[in-house]
Amino acid sequence: MKPSFLAKLLDRIEHVSPDELQTYLQQLAREKGFLEVIFNTLQEGVLVIDATGKVLYFNPSIQRLIGLPDNALGHGIAEYLKELDWKKILRERRVVSRDLEVYYPDMRFLNFYLVPLEEPGQEFMGYALIFHDITATRQRTREVIESEKVNALTLLAAGVAHELGNPLNSLHIHLQLLERDLKKIEGAKGGRLVDSVRVAQAEITRLDNIINQFLRAVRPGQPDRKPVQVNDLVRESIDFLRPEIADRDILVETELAKDLPLVPLDAGQMKQAIYNLIKNSIQAMSVGGILRVRTERNDTHLLISFIDNGCGIAPENVSRIFEPYFTTKDGGSGLGLFIIRRIVREHGGDLILESDPGRGTTARIVLPLAERRVRMLPAGTP
Ligand SMILES: Nc1ncnc2c1ncn2[C@@H]1O[C@H](COP(=O)(O)OP(=O)(O)OP(=O)(O)O)[C@@H](O)[C@H]1O
Ligand SMILES: [Mg+2]
Repeated sequence: MKPSFLAKLLDRIEHVSPDELQTYLQQLAREKGFLEVIFNTLQEGVLVIDATGKVLYFNPSIQRLIGLPDNALGHGIAEYLKELDWKKILRERRVVSRDLEVYYPDMRFLNFYLVPLEEPGQEFMGYALIFHDITATRQRTREVIESEKVNALTLLAAGVAHELGNPLNSLHIHLQLLERDLKKIEGAKGGRLVDSVRVAQAEITRLDNIINQFLRAVRPGQPDRKPVQVNDLVRESIDFLRPEIADRDILVETELAKDLPLVPLDAGQMKQAIYNLIKNSIQAMSVGGILRVRTERNDTHLLISFIDNGCGIAPENVSRIFEPYFTTKDGGSGLGLFIIRRIVREHGGDLILESDPGRGTTARIVLPLAERRVRMLPAGTP
């Protein structure tokens, strides 16, 4: 409905006959119905507030997008969108466009657009707020960036492995030749030399294994699943790290649920993930730190939590910890969390990290108990 039509009608209202008035009213009602249908079917959320910020109108989409309650009419917009500086926005009467992260009723990214409703010569009417859901676009961008990083990383790893493989092979062959010749030397000296060559050969085999393991980790591939008791994986990983735990005088407390079902997992991959999370916690704690490892289940998921009281993650690093090569440690590769998350996601689960800087960090592996075909991806900035 054009405001000018209504304005003209109101100007002439005293001269309009009852019949004409009825026709006009019917026309107005039709136009109102027509507009309502349009607003109700819009995917975009539309909300109108007056000059003081009170809600005058909203369409159903806005309820889905930001969880606006049914009784929001007449309430201040600041009650529902607390993150924005409404005093400033209402004072300045300017067009505002911002991206918002919304946690309720769902985790979403929204682009929000605020336009002052001004008509020359008319009283200021308020503002229209238009919300557009950009979660899918954000997620796609994130996935593209992530897969590009994975490709770059895989390429680099394959290159390094290739380069290292050739000299290692050659070293292996030459050590075999050396061993054969040394065996011909009589006496204790010959024996000692043969022993040294064997140590060197063993070290080369170890290096070769490390490279192969690294490549497997970077390209975990499809997990080879067999029914596994997660509590066993946790115990084995802790035992494996005993020397480091003792060295740092750290207390590890376990709370392992007794009712955990066997879950189809790739035991090797999952142990690698658990081991790396414990290692991160140990490295974040000083002498006397406490690490709690807890397993539990609910109706749909199995949870493995690692709760440390270490240094925590600085807010400026939170968005970067899953990036390959991001590390704050001397000698850290920065691949730990990146690989752990890939492994957990290959199993249909997810890895969640929460941190309170200076107080500690909780890392949680969430695994579905039953096979799921759909996986929720966590929202986050790309
Ligand atoms: N439990 C934790 N407490 C505090 N910071 C953590 C924790 N876990 C991870 N981080 C931070 O996240 C960064 C990335 O961790 P990630 O495991 O990916 O690599 P890294 O531990 O630095 O190296 P690597 O795992 O290869 O030894 C760490 O450098 C650290 O800053
Ligand atoms: Mg690590």
